[in-house]
Amino acid sequence: MMQRSYVHSSEENISPVNPPLVGEGQHPDKMQGHWVLARAGKRVLRPGGIELTRQMLDALAISPQDSVVEFAPGLGITAAMVLKRRPVAYWGVEREPAAAECLRDRLAGTKAEIVLGLAEQSGLPGACATVVYGEAMLSMQSQEQKNRIVTEARRLLAPGGRYGIHELCYSPDDLLDHLHHEIQAALSKEIHVGVQPLSRSEWIRFFEQNGLKVTWSAEAPMHLLQPQRVLRDEGLRGSLRVAFNVATNPKLRHRIFAMRQLFTKYREHLRAISLVGQRESTNA
Ligand SMILES: C[S@@+](CC[C@H](N)C(=O)[O-])C[C@H]1O[C@@H](n2cnc3c(N)ncnc32)[C@H](O)[C@@H]1O
Repeated sequence: MMQRSYVHSSEENISPVNPPLVGEGQHPDKMQGHWVLARAGKRVLRPGGIELTRQMLDALAISPQDSVVEFAPGLGITAAMVLKRRPVAYWGVEREPAAAECLRDRLAGTKAEIVLGLAEQSGLPGACATVVYGEAMLSMQSQEQKNRIVTEARRLLAPGGRYGIHELCYSPDDLLDHLHHEIQAALSKEIHVGVQPLSRSEWIRFFEQNGLKVTWSAEAPMHLLQPQRVLRDEGLRGSLRVAFNVATNPKLRHRIFAMRQLFTKYREHLRAISLVGQRESTNA
């Protein structure tokens, strides 16, 4: 197994010196957009950035009494933040083998357990968690898959437990249908993932229909690839790493510029949203 070295700095800034080999085997022109970004050295891969993540974690109020499941931890940035809150247990369920390997390296020596598998079928015991959350993973699923994942979140949550998400949403809430289709098609073509966001009220309905009472929500602009956001998310050294990788790798540059162009084109209609919902406190 390949060994990677890590530079430890402040808070969640534990950054791989070499980007993890995520997306290995995918043709550079067809690689899923989040792995293109990861290969460029970007570690924060969610639409509202680290700031919306902090707000979501505060709203989830994770404490040393909690047992936590994270769906799709990716490169483990939020996992490291959550582990600082010293939960009783933390499980990360990630489907990409290289990311799971990177997470096991990165979180070695903590109580984190990484499950290589699907969020919709985690294999974890029912009611094992008081908190379940996932970022930038539901938006890339069909409606049926979204339903399967929230059903699994509910199964994992003990009565009264909290579920948090941080995803893409359409704006305004009543965005015309033809724009939904146009944006979905354009993003899916460029990012090579079937991107299917919902509007704010659709996300809220999705929670309610699955027995989760929304207790908190917030939104942020979708500025994933804007220079100021990259600086805030990755720090100065991380941003320089991304800039260097983009400058020296024409294939990465081509893909990242194309994604940024799309995000800019639809900046009025795509935002980041985070919701926290609570499962009823009895076993319904
Ligand atoms: C855009 S990245 C987000 C990573 C991380 N959550 C973040 O916000 O930085 C999407 C992640 O979702 C994972 N993923 C997508 N569908 C999944 C599923 N059904 N089960 C587990 N992981 C999944 C991918 O492997 C990838 O790590």
